[in-house]
Amino acid sequence: MSKEVVIHGRAFESFLSEEAIRRRIGEMAAMIADDYAERLPLFLPILNGSFVFAADLLRAYPAECELAFVKLSSYRGMRSSGRVETLIGLDLDLSGKDIVIVEDIVDSGRTLSDFLPVLQTARPASVAIASLLVKPDALEFPLEIAYRGFEIPTRFVVGYGLDYDGLGRNLPEIYQLKER
Ligand code: IMP
Ligand code: MG
Repeated sequence: MSKEVVIHGRAFESFLSEEAIRRRIGEMAAMIADDYAERLPLFLPILNGSFVFAADLLRAYPAECELAFVKLSSYRGMRSSGRVETLIGLDLDLSGKDIVIVEDIVDSGRTLSDFLPVLQTARPASVAIASLLVKPDALEFPLEIAYRGFEIPTRFVVGYGLDYDGLGRNLPEIYQLKER
């Protein structure tokens, strides 16, 4: 079904259905569980955008796991070095933990490539990235993304946790900006 939503006056059309998302997350959870069969993963969702994905990924995860959240603020408009500030989280002891970062979307890769060195100061045993969406053509900062839900074109998307200027996070499926 080709639904359309209008957010802040811009038209978005349905792009990834609830069913397609659910199925892919099941596959991602199984892949992660396979790789972490001998380890206890600590899922680390980056707030706010990944809260919906994280909730579904954890419920699809078939083995023991832990959870902690971080909230980052990235200065996206600023050229300089795109500093990332940790606003909430990382107050718990992550040393020796096998961390799986949970992201809604990797666009330029700036947020995560700035956050990884910060995370390393907590001395985890390992760090991997699970991102529901990746825009490969937009990637400017090289990142190893072990678990990718969907590789998508460089076009703005909204829903399933992702917002357009604060709105749209509650939409149960993912919509793509209609006009270019
Ligand atoms: P990056 O630092 O450029 O990789 O951007 C990552 C962050 O930008 C994501 O965690 C999102 O919060 C936001 N973002 C990037 N692309 C989109 C999009 O298409 N829709 C909504 N948010 C996006
Ligand atoms: Mg985000």
